[in-house]
Amino acid sequence: MALKITVIGTGYLGATHAAAMAELGFEVLGLDVVPEKIELLASGRVPMYEPGLEELLAKHVAGIEGSSGRLRFTTSWEEVGAFGDVHFVCVNTPQKHGEYACDMSYVDAAFTSLAGVVREGALVVGKSTVPVGSAERLAALLPEGVELAWNPEFLREGFAVQDTLHPDRIVVGVRGHGERAEKTLREVYAVPVGEGSPFVVTDFPTAELVKTAANSFLATKISFINAMAEVCEAAGGDVAKLAEAIGHDDRIGAKFLRAGIGFGGGCLPKDIRAFMARAGELGADQALTFLREIDSINMRRRGQMVEMAREALGGSTFLGRRVAVLGATFKPDSDDVRDSPALNVAGQIHLQGGQVTVYDPKGMENARRVFPTLGYADSALEAVRGADVVLHLTEWREFRELDPAELAKVVASRVVLDGRNALDGERWRAAGWTYRAMGRPRA
Ligand code: UDX
Repeated sequence: MALKITVIGTGYLGATHAAAMAELGFEVLGLDVVPEKIELLASGRVPMYEPGLEELLAKHVAGIEGSSGRLRFTTSWEEVGAFGDVHFVCVNTPQKHGEYACDMSYVDAAFTSLAGVVREGALVVGKSTVPVGSAERLAALLPEGVELAWNPEFLREGFAVQDTLHPDRIVVGVRGHGERAEKTLREVYAVPVGEGSPFVVTDFPTAELVKTAANSFLATKISFINAMAEVCEAAGGDVAKLAEAIGHDDRIGAKFLRAGIGFGGGCLPKDIRAFMARAGELGADQALTFLREIDSINMRRRGQMVEMAREALGGSTFLGRRVAVLGATFKPDSDDVRDSPALNVAGQIHLQGGQVTVYDPKGMENARRVFPTLGYADSALEAVRGADVVLHLTEWREFRELDPAELAKVVASRVVLDGRNALDGERWRAAGWTYRAMGRPRA
């Protein structure tokens, strides 16, 4: 009989994982402790913007016309315990308030609740990003006869559905030989493994570390190119050309070498901090002191963008000056504004007296919630109306497709600063703009 799967925690990761499991043919039950979330999902809608996710849910959520009916949602732990052969724990692990370490309270609560209801012989699979050593501790909370595996998740926002259905690797941490856990997870992931996704089996600590190591590497790559941007700014070089040229070396690779205002979001910043905190607890802090530098290079870029804007406005004050900000989310194709560099820059300028107007294709609602005192406009054209300077801070396709000649008619001053190195500078210059990008010559 086909395995019955539960997904505990239906945020970004969980909602996507649940829909993907239903797509792979399993009967799935998703649980969340927030009833409003469950209600929304049960009607086939998602509380965030993620391309393709709503369509996938509608295809499987029970009760929706024409759906497979394989996906249901609940708030009942008893139901979850009775239903599941495999339980995926997908709750979030945010940064602790005022500390680098991550907050494990949701994971701990999920394991405690699950432990009270899980059937003997079931498999519990952790997917949340946790400090190394957690799996060993959490395994002890589960009753006799219930195995634990650790299966980190690597999905990117904006590509969550694709990354979940066609993962570029599946990593499984098991205890001892863990043959039963491995066999069960090979069954769960039979389709992607059949399509060629590598299946890497290892121990608990290595599986936990794979996730934090991967995110640390990506953060390092971005901060590396941003450090090069700083040097280019001082030396009159062009970081975009430099990235293109070093990217041809396939040991380096061209991806994640886009210089700009740096990384943000719900993962990279908090994961590298939690990693440093955990290494400290383990007495291995020296190994990760470089991540402190990665973090500060990254944060410095936001300040540098503010300074570029100040300079474009004559070098002294933002008081009374109108600043248009294109982009609020931490990356395009997402409505997520958590630790968003774009919103951070907009906020800094606003706090220094600038009159900031923000437009983002999908992030307006979330941005307003986080930063209600900023100005917001309903379109890029409205945002730039009367602006003394235009800041391009999230690289949405919509912004690349703007007609600089149209915008030129409504701004007070034709100056655009590209914080993502993504606009076509030549096109903007041809339309009469002063175009400046981070880490590149003034032209
Ligand atoms: C990341 C990891 O990529 C993913 O594997 C993990 O599971 C979760 O964390 P995500 O947070 O969705 O995913 O964002 P990602 O695409 O990695 O981008 C992170 C940030 O880096 C964004 O703010 C993006 O704008 C920035 N970035 C990315 C750059 O500044 N330059 C680049 O070249 C690439």
